[in-house]
Amino acid sequence: MNDNIEVLISKTNIQKRIKTLANEIDNDFKNEEIIFISVLKGAIYFTMDLLKNIKNENKIIDFIKVSSYKKTESTNKINFQLDVSIDLKNKNVIIIDDILDTGKTMHFLVNYIKNKGPKSIKTCVLLNKEERRIKNITANYVGFEIDNKFVVGYGLDFEEKYRFLPYIGVLKKELITH
Ligand code: IMP
Ligand code: MG
Repeated sequence: MNDNIEVLISKTNIQKRIKTLANEIDNDFKNEEIIFISVLKGAIYFTMDLLKNIKNENKIIDFIKVSSYKKTESTNKINFQLDVSIDLKNKNVIIIDDILDTGKTMHFLVNYIKNKGPKSIKTCVLLNKEERRIKNITANYVGFEIDNKFVVGYGLDFEEKYRFLPYIGVLKKELITH
């Protein structure tokens, strides 16, 4: 346990919910090929646990890297840092991110991937902060709805720290300095 962090979603609850999401995806796609595009770096823990629980034998993984965050405030600019390495034409794609916040990142990514001519695009996020939404976007698969609080852990960072925590926690306010 970290003294600076209040647990919001426990490790057990995260793992339980991921199993349910994995079943949902298996029911929707059966054994059809899916390219999972994990958004680096925040989505890596979620992606790995989700894919371990998905039974589909035609699952393929790829990565994309963008960033929009500066400290705890979202910026308008999306920094494109790494592109996918697989041809997505006529493929089923599921974009996986850690959190849907303002929606700018996912909105950008969905449009970007659409231009590559996939058969279908779905989005999957561990967390949804509905209150912060600026772009009109809803994820197809959502782990948990959360309030408008800055969270860390299980892939989510504050200035690159706390990603390794196995739970989602709220950082105590006094630690966040702008
Ligand atoms: P959006 O573009 O505003 O939806 O932001 C999405 C990205 O911002 C996510 O992929 C996260 O990396 C980051 N982000 C948003 N909210 C939080 C948070 O509460 N903690 C840590 N990172 C966050
Ligand atoms: Mg991110």
